[in-house]
Amino acid sequence: MTGTTAASTTVVELTDVTKRFGDTVALDRVSLTVARGEILVLLGLSGSGKSTLLRHLDGLEEPTSGSVTVLGESVPRLRGKALRSLRSRVGFIFQQFELVPSLTVLENVLTGSLATLRGPRLGLFSYGRASKLRALTHLDRVGLLDRAYQRADTLSGGQQQRVAIARALMQDPEVLLADEPVASLDPESSSQVMALIREIAADEGLTVVCSLHQVDLAIDWADRIVGLRRGSVVLDTTTDGLDKAQVMEIYGRVATTTEEIVAVQTELHEARLEVGR
Ligand SMILES: Nc1ncnc2c1ncn2[C@@H]1O[C@H](COP(=O)(O)OP(=O)(O)O)[C@@H](O)[C@H]1O
Ligand SMILES: [Mg+2]
Repeated sequence: MTGTTAASTTVVELTDVTKRFGDTVALDRVSLTVARGEILVLLGLSGSGKSTLLRHLDGLEEPTSGSVTVLGESVPRLRGKALRSLRSRVGFIFQQFELVPSLTVLENVLTGSLATLRGPRLGLFSYGRASKLRALTHLDRVGLLDRAYQRADTLSGGQQQRVAIARALMQDPEVLLADEPVASLDPESSSQVMALIREIAADEGLTVVCSLHQVDLAIDWADRIVGLRRGSVVLDTTTDGLDKAQVMEIYGRVATTTEEIVAVQTELHEARLEVGR
């Protein structure tokens, strides 16, 4: 069952979105509706348009044609204060965490309460007590309260991504966008980070749109998977009862370039080995 969400619960809506960069068609007539509280994974090979799609949801890209609505706002029309207001309701986490390495963990979380991601390097003294308490609560939520006063660059990758999640929570977001949040983590940390995102989303009633390229993680952590291939939606399915081989089969049917076919066949082979085990 897909695409049957009631209008009142729709948080993200793309209608016929095409995005061109010169001759490259990064998104090709993408239509997609995400309901409040849904955890949706965008799955696709490198270059399939995942980041471009996510960037449209935060007003970082404008569509060449089509419409993008997030939390009832037409994103491409927003400017200045209205755009900042939308962005304050939408948290964004990235593959490379984007922490300030020389600041403490707590200071990094506190920057989430600033309007811009790379805000000025304010010292701890410049934040109010209420903000600090909130930041510490969010650090506790991600299991890193005891690391608050350590420099960010002393943490492991998985811990740094958890700090980035705590930083995003400082905005009290309604929507969380995550662009390959576990792409640079080992499998165990990847699972931990995805589990945490899922848990927090459920607790806070967050809507999550997260890009991944690992089919297994998508099946384990998403409610719904939307597959992209060269900018087009080629798969849109809930994850109930879905196994990796099925997803890879669908992928296999839509792969056209040699590179895509090789990537899909390799994964499909591994999926079959897993299922057969
Ligand atoms: N700013 C840009 N300028 C030119 N081409 C871009 C730009 N951003 C993305 N692209 C192209 O759009 C396509 C989709 O890219 P992207 O959204 O980054 O894919 P993914 O995140 O799935 O790897 C790719 O062909 C990429 O090279
Ligand atoms: Mg990307």
